[in-house]
Amino acid sequence: ESVSVDDLLADPVEKIQSVGLTPHPSIPHPRDVFEPARSNSFGIDLDDSRTLDDVADAVQAFEMPPAPAEASADQVADMITRAEAAAPAWAQAPVGVRAEALEKLADRMQDDMLPLVSLCVHEARKTYDDAVAEVREAIDFCRYYARRACQDFAPQDLPSVTGETNRLTLEGRGVFGCIAPWNFPLAIFTGQAVAAVVAGNAVIAKPAPQTPRIAARAVALAHACGIPADILQLAPGGAETGAALTGDPRVMGIAFTGSTRTAKAIQRTLAEDATRPIVPLIAETGGLNAMIVDSTALPEQVVQDVVTSAFLSAGQRCSALRLLLLQEDIYDRTITMLKGAMDTLIVGDPADPATDIGPVIDGDAWQRLETYRQSMKSRWVHHVAAPEAGNFIPPTLIRLDSPDDLEQEWFGPILHVATWKAGTLARTVEGVNARGYGLTMGLHSRIADVSEDVARWARVGNLYVNRSMTGAVVGSQPFGGERLSGTGPKAGGPHYLPMFAVERTVTVDT
Ligand code: SER
Repeated sequence: ESVSVDDLLADPVEKIQSVGLTPHPSIPHPRDVFEPARSNSFGIDLDDSRTLDDVADAVQAFEMPPAPAEASADQVADMITRAEAAAPAWAQAPVGVRAEALEKLADRMQDDMLPLVSLCVHEARKTYDDAVAEVREAIDFCRYYARRACQDFAPQDLPSVTGETNRLTLEGRGVFGCIAPWNFPLAIFTGQAVAAVVAGNAVIAKPAPQTPRIAARAVALAHACGIPADILQLAPGGAETGAALTGDPRVMGIAFTGSTRTAKAIQRTLAEDATRPIVPLIAETGGLNAMIVDSTALPEQVVQDVVTSAFLSAGQRCSALRLLLLQEDIYDRTITMLKGAMDTLIVGDPADPATDIGPVIDGDAWQRLETYRQSMKSRWVHHVAAPEAGNFIPPTLIRLDSPDDLEQEWFGPILHVATWKAGTLARTVEGVNARGYGLTMGLHSRIADVSEDVARWARVGNLYVNRSMTGAVVGSQPFGGERLSGTGPKAGGPHYLPMFAVERTVTVDT
C-alpha cells in the first residue's frame, strides 16, 4: 500500500513504522564530547590527542599582544602602490610555487594552534570548540585552495581546427581587496586572502575592527611561509580603511563577507567611477535562515540540531538558524523538549571550559540585540539565565504568529518559532524564499519525498537535511548564498578560485 506524504504528516508514528523507517541515534550534549570540528583536514593529523584541559591551560596562560595600528587612507594607497608593483611577478610564478606557500601555511597554523585558539577565545570571545574549529577551518582553506589551484590554473589546450592551437590560461587580476568579518576572524580572513594569493593576486586584507590581532598573526605566519610581504598586506581598520580600499580604482576585485547593506554599498562604489575597470565583487552576506520540521522528524534530533544551529556560537554565524517552522501538530511536544535542552546551556566566560555560549562580540551588538529582545518580551516562550555584565544575550525563544513577522536578521542567540499546517509545505518554503535571502535552510523529515521536494523548492545556497545547519566543511559543503545572501561563488568549493582570476585565450595559427 502506498503512503502519501500528506498521510505520513497527518499520522506520523504509525505510518512511519509501517514503511520501515528507523530513528537516528541520539547524540550527546556538546559539552560531553570535545570534538570541535568536523574538518576535512585532508589526511593530515591534527593532533586529536589534545584534551580540552590542555587547550584551556594554554589559553588561560596566553598574553594578548597589542593590536596592530589602523591603516589610514594614505597608508592604504601606499599599500596598493606596493601591491601593484609586486603583482605581475607573483602572477607569473608557477602555480605550484604559490600553492606550496599555502601548504606550508597550513602546517604552520597547525603548529601554532594554541596561540591561534587563544586569540580566538580572547579577542573574538569564542568558546574552545568554536576556536579550535576555526583554526581547523583556516587550515582546511589553505590546503583545499592550494590543491584546487594546481588543477584550476593548469593551462588547458582546447579543441582546434587544423593549423591552429588554442590555449586557455587563468591569471591573477592584479590587486585584490579582501574584507573579512569578526565572526570568523581567522577562517574567513585566511580563506579569502589565500584564495586571492594563490590565484596570483597581490592582496590587501582588511580584518574587522574587532579582531585585528588574529589577522596580524595569520599574516605574519603567511609571510614566514614564503608569501612575500607586498603580496599579502594587512590593513587593519574600520569603515574609513574599507572605503579607501574599495574606492581605489587600482583595486581589481573585492572579496567581502559581512552585511548585505555593506555589500551593496561596495557594489555602488565599484560601479561609481565610469573610467574604472568593471571588477568583480564576491560577497557573502546574511540570511533569514529557517528550519522546517515536519511531524515525522525525530524530536531528540530536532532539538539537538536547533540548539546547535540557533544558540551555539552565540548565534553569531551567518548560517545560524533564525526561524524555526514547526508543523503545528508537533509544536507542544517539540517546544517542551527544546525548553529542557535550553536549560542545560551554560552561558558565561568563554575561557571557562564549561561554557557553551559566550558573549556577543561587543557593546554595540549587545545593545541592538537586547533592545530588540526586550521589545519582544510579551512573545518570549523561553529564555536562559546569563551573567548580567559582559555583553551576554540570554538565549531566547520568541513565538511569532506568522513567519513574516520576523523583519530582519538578528545576529545573536535569539530564535523565532512559528507553525505551519500539514498540506502547506510548498507554501511554507515559498514564504521563506519570498523573503529575498537565500543562505541556509534546515529540514527535518524522515520522508525522502519531502527532502527531495524541499531541495527542489528551496532557493538557498546550503540546505541541510536531518542535521544542524551550521559548520560547513571546506571542500565537502561549499558555503555561500544567493540573492540578498551573496553573489557566489561558494567558499570552499570548486568554483571559487577562478573568480579571482582573468581568463586568457591564446590562438596561434601554425
Ligand atoms: N561557514 C560558516 C558555517 O557554515 C558560516 O559562516 O557555519
